[in-house]
Amino acid sequence: MRVLKHLFEQNRKWAEKVKESDPEFFLKLSKQQNPEYLWIGCSDSRVPSNQIVGMLPGEIFVHRNIANVVVPSDLNCLSVIQYAVEVLKIKHIIVCGHYGCGGIKAAMENKEHGLIDNWLKHIKDVYRTHRAKVDTLQDETEKLNAMCELNVVEQVANVCNTTIVRNAWKSGQELSVHGWIYSIENGILQDLNVCVTGLDEIPGHQK
Ligand code: CO
Repeated sequence: MRVLKHLFEQNRKWAEKVKESDPEFFLKLSKQQNPEYLWIGCSDSRVPSNQIVGMLPGEIFVHRNIANVVVPSDLNCLSVIQYAVEVLKIKHIIVCGHYGCGGIKAAMENKEHGLIDNWLKHIKDVYRTHRAKVDTLQDETEKLNAMCELNVVEQVANVCNTTIVRNAWKSGQELSVHGWIYSIENGILQDLNVCVTGLDEIPGHQK
């Protein structure tokens, strides 16, 4: 199948529906994007950023990768953060993980998965750091979900320690970094209460 006709049909219907509720919607959006939020989430198809917080196109700038990982050698993610912070001047960066994350599960397993193991290495490091605590849990699902939360906390710290975010805070820019987790089973988001709003709030920050 060279042309995915049904997707184009769905697209036309969607565009019509949006225009019915606001005839100027696309015209207004085409002139500027002015989102307040940068979403860094997992690529998992069940965690669509805009839908789960009920937002329209134009409201969230999005970066997604397997297991919502932020590493300082990833030019793709850093470029997104830079554009979002320095050009769009977004006010909130949300790192959103989800329970039952396949990427985290794979990183906790003691077997090979091919190329992706290079990416999962970052999560394996998180697991190694917290292993003593995580392994006290009896149930495999509990262990996985604890790691899903710990990974968010770790990635929030990584976002805060990028030169981009540090420089934004140094120059007095208003910016908050949040850590959230989503449950695929019930569609509910939870705040992990690890919000950082300035340099002195970064975990492990030395004065
Ligand atoms: Co995932």
